[in-house]
Amino acid sequence: MTLSDRDICAFLPWDSDFFGVRIARARDHRLTAALATEISGWCARESIDCLYFLADADDAQTIALAEQHGFQLVDIRLTLRLDSWAEHSGGSPSPHVRNASANDVEALKAIARLSHEDSRFFYDAHFSRERCAELYAVWIEKSCAGYADAALVFDDGSGAAGYITCHLDADNGGSIGLVGVAQDQQGKGAGSALVSAAVDWLVQAGAAPITVVTQGRNARAQRLYQRHGFVTESLQLWYHRWFTGS
Ligand SMILES: CC(C)(COP(=O)(O)OP(=O)(O)OC[C@H]1O[C@@H](n2cnc3c(N)ncnc32)[C@H](O)[C@@H]1OP(=O)(O)O)[C@@H](O)C(=O)NCCC(=O)NCCS
Repeated sequence: MTLSDRDICAFLPWDSDFFGVRIARARDHRLTAALATEISGWCARESIDCLYFLADADDAQTIALAEQHGFQLVDIRLTLRLDSWAEHSGGSPSPHVRNASANDVEALKAIARLSHEDSRFFYDAHFSRERCAELYAVWIEKSCAGYADAALVFDDGSGAAGYITCHLDADNGGSIGLVGVAQDQQGKGAGSALVSAAVDWLVQAGAAPITVVTQGRNARAQRLYQRHGFVTESLQLWYHRWFTGS
């Protein structure tokens, strides 16, 4: 099979519509000189403005080629894994965690707008900060409306002050999606209570292992998951390559 016989990139209609530019993602996680040239050609033919590329961090050729071809490093993607409830070390689920309801959505969107500034979108100056914040507001709203298999909130009686979402994967594994705690409620155990509840929900649903993705720059979130027994599974590098406006 030659490189041009297969789709080397995928156009992303949702992202493109949301940010108002044409966005695609490279399918492979490693580059060769030939593939990098093919990708440039594909993006030119498809009038792509921004290409996402998730690179394996342990391939020196890929990193050198990414730099040569103008890819901008925007995030270190860290995947952590918990193999079973037996590995979990964060205590029992808190009575202050419950399922999200439609009444919580506006409060959760407000928390989400302020919670994800460590993400790759905020680290790419081509995207406006307002739009990046809105991305996470839309994401938690969709999660509460069925995109996630469970959306849980922390509420000690004064309303929803944090969220965590759970996903059941096709391979019997499970994953934690979005996590966020209102800034004035952080450092009081809400994040820990949410992680315990999410692990409990996923284990009850039969999911193993449980994974969660966070940013290499987000030491606070890493500590939260590590204190619950999660260990590193993989590390990858997110690059964005802009063909316009750079
Ligand atoms: C990461 C995040 C969810 C943690 O939430 P949190 O509610 O602050 O978490 P906790 O209160 O359970 O734990 C935070 C720290 O407070 C400490 N803590 C918890 N309860 C405490 C208490 N009663 N007194 C003193 N310290 C306490 C914990 O030991 C922990 O310390 P550590 O960071 O040294 O491990 C929160 O910082 C956040 O929303 N960040 C932005 C969103 C984000 O990064 N999401 C994850 C990646 S998508």
